[in-house]
Amino acid sequence: MIVATDRAPDEAIVRFENVGLRYGLGPEVLKDVNFALQKGSFHFLIGESGAGKSSLLKLIYLALKPSRGLISLFDHEIAITPRPDLPALRRRVGVVFQEFKLLNHLSAYDNVALPLRVAGVRESVVKKHVSELLAWVGLEQHMQARPPTLSGGQQQRVSIARAIIARPQLLLADEPTGNVDDVMGFRLMHLFEELNRLGTTVVIATHNMQVVERLGHGRLLLDDGRLIMESARAKIAPKLENLVPGSRQKALAAAESAAAADSFGKYPGDSEIFGDPSSLKDYL
Ligand SMILES: Nc1ncnc2c1ncn2[C@@H]1O[C@H](COP(=O)(O)OP(=O)(O)OP(=O)(O)O)[C@@H](O)[C@H]1O
Ligand SMILES: [Mg+2]
Repeated sequence: MIVATDRAPDEAIVRFENVGLRYGLGPEVLKDVNFALQKGSFHFLIGESGAGKSSLLKLIYLALKPSRGLISLFDHEIAITPRPDLPALRRRVGVVFQEFKLLNHLSAYDNVALPLRVAGVRESVVKKHVSELLAWVGLEQHMQARPPTLSGGQQQRVSIARAIIARPQLLLADEPTGNVDDVMGFRLMHLFEELNRLGTTVVIATHNMQVVERLGHGRLLLDDGRLIMESARAKIAPKLENLVPGSRQKALAAAESAAAADSFGKYPGDSEIFGDPSSLKDYL
């Protein structure tokens, strides 16, 4: 079964049809996964440890092949896409890896500069963008540090900066705030939301339900290898069935307007903590 979406199919950035995944001869860790991610959407990928979140992201960024089913990325059916065409598709995806995967022999600055240099961006432009972004994630003082000398949270921020510096069309982040405190966690989520506002489709795997509840957005819930897709509003609606008639109507209207509103607009005070992300528009 394909989970219904109300937009034209050609707007799907990612599409899974009856996808299953097993490692070697082991049991299926993902079963009959069906979903489509629309261009410009923002989803949290949630589920218990071991539910398959990282595996699902690896399938999307083409690090793993499914054991069965079809995957399409940017409207390319991967199974029939010539192998030499895959790296170009992959370069349109920014990935924040759960285990960072930074290059330890390069400085934080050079790690983040890499995607721009690969894309042939002029060094003066690289310098401006990399310095600004590293400063924005609080690493101004650590630009020349090599990853092994940085804390887990600092490495995580380098990894996030590297994933977004080239403005990917799709951003996949695996537990991107697992190593930072709450304030930095929300600051980084704000960065992802800003990137999303500028057109990037975003999927974030997280255990942090506080962030998920607070920011809203759609949810991809993995349970026993199966995926359930929920929109922020669909999640709220069933809980309202029990309310008395008048208040249900009112609550639905409120949920609808909350979904339409700028999610950070709902939290006065955040902008003071986070600063003005509009400067990001220069390079995102
Ligand atoms: N390389 C591998 N070889 C064999 N089994 C694997 C491999 N990677 C993951 N698995 C298994 O696949 C299942 C899903 O793992 P995965 O890492 O995708 O979960 P997760 O939801 O990301 O967990 P966490 O929240 O702890 O990061 C687990 O049962 C795990 O043991
Ligand atoms: Mg994981």
